[in-house]
Amino acid sequence: MDKIVGLIGRDETVAELIAEIRKGKHVILTGPVGIGKSAILRSALDKAADKIDLLIILHDHQAKGQFVEIARQMLALGLIGAKELDLPAKFHDTPGPEIEWREVKSQVNRASMRDLTQAIIPALARADSKPVIAVDDLTTLTPTQMAFWLAIFDHAQVIGCASEKKARIRKLWWKMKEIEVKPLPRNAVCEMVKAYIVATGILIESPDLYISHVVKQSGGVPQAIYDMLDESGKERIIDKRKVREMRHDAGVFYIDFTPLIMILGAVIVSMRYVGMGTGDKTLYILGGLGTALFLTFRYFAFKGVGR
Ligand SMILES: Nc1ncnc2c1ncn2[C@@H]1O[C@H](COP(=O)(O)OP(=O)(O)OP(=O)(O)O)[C@@H](O)[C@H]1O
Ligand SMILES: [Mg+2]
Repeated sequence: MDKIVGLIGRDETVAELIAEIRKGKHVILTGPVGIGKSAILRSALDKAADKIDLLIILHDHQAKGQFVEIARQMLALGLIGAKELDLPAKFHDTPGPEIEWREVKSQVNRASMRDLTQAIIPALARADSKPVIAVDDLTTLTPTQMAFWLAIFDHAQVIGCASEKKARIRKLWWKMKEIEVKPLPRNAVCEMVKAYIVATGILIESPDLYISHVVKQSGGVPQAIYDMLDESGKERIIDKRKVREMRHDAGVFYIDFTPLIMILGAVIVSMRYVGMGTGDKTLYILGGLGTALFLTFRYFAFKGVGR
C-alpha cells in the first residue's frame, strides 16, 4: 500500500526510529497487526542506509529461517567464512561473496540454531563496525529461540517488529527500546483515501461520506484501510448505497428497525379501531394518542435515516 500512496503520516515515528538506531539501541516496533510496523521499519532503513555500515535485513518470520538468512547475508558481506559455517572443504578457500548460495543452502539449512549461533557470534564480534540486524518479525519467538537471539544482541544492534509482546520472551523486550506504533490520525486516513482514489481512479458519489466511513471503520489501521479500499476498488463507482452496505457488512451500529416500527404502528392504529368497535373509550383515546405520537416519531426517524 505504501507503494501506491507513499508512507503517510509516519514522519515522526520514522524519525524517532532513525534517532534510536543512531544511538545504537536495540529497538522494537510494537502495535497491532497491520498498523504499519514493517512499513515504518522499511522507510527508516531506506533513509538511514547510508549511515549504516553493515546492514542485514531479515524477512523470515521464523527464527530458524532468520538465522539461516543471517548466515547467508554474512557470507555475502564477507563477514563469515565457509569453514566457520562448516561448509564442505571445497568451499573453504573461496571468499564468502563468491560462494553461490544455492550450492550451500541445504547445508546451512541442516545446521541447528545452536551451531549457527556459534558460528555467527564470533564473526559478528570481529566485524569492523557493529552490524545492524533488522528483523521484520519477532512476535512468534519461543523462549529457546529467544536465547539464541539474546546471544546475538551483544554483538549486533537488533531492530525488530512485534505485533504482540509475549510475556514468555520478556527478557528480549527488556533489552529493547520500544516504539509503539499508533493508529493513524483522521487527517492521515483522509490523505490515504484521497491518494488512493486519485491513484486508482475509482469514482465516489459522495467522497466525504465514504472517507468518514473508512475513518470510523478502520480505526486508523492502514491494513484495514487498504482492505476496505481494495474491496471498494473492485467496483468502479461507489454510490451512497454501497457505503451503507459496507457499514452493514462491518456489522457496526446498523440494526434495521423498519419492520419493528411498521408492526408497532399497526398495533397502535388498530387499538383505536378496536376501541371504537367495542365501545372501550380508554382504548380508543390511547389508540388515537398513540397514532399521533407514532406519526411524529416516524417523521423524525425517517428524516434521520434519509440523511
Ligand atoms: N502510513 C502508511 N501509509 C500508507 N500505507 C501504509 C502505511 N502504513 C502501512 N501501510 C500499508 O499497510 C499495510 C500493512 O502495513 P505493515 O505490513 O507495515 O503492517 P505491520 O504492522 O507490519 O503488520 P504485521 O503485524 O501483520 O506484520 C502494508 O501494505 C503497508 O504498505
Ligand atoms: Mg509486519
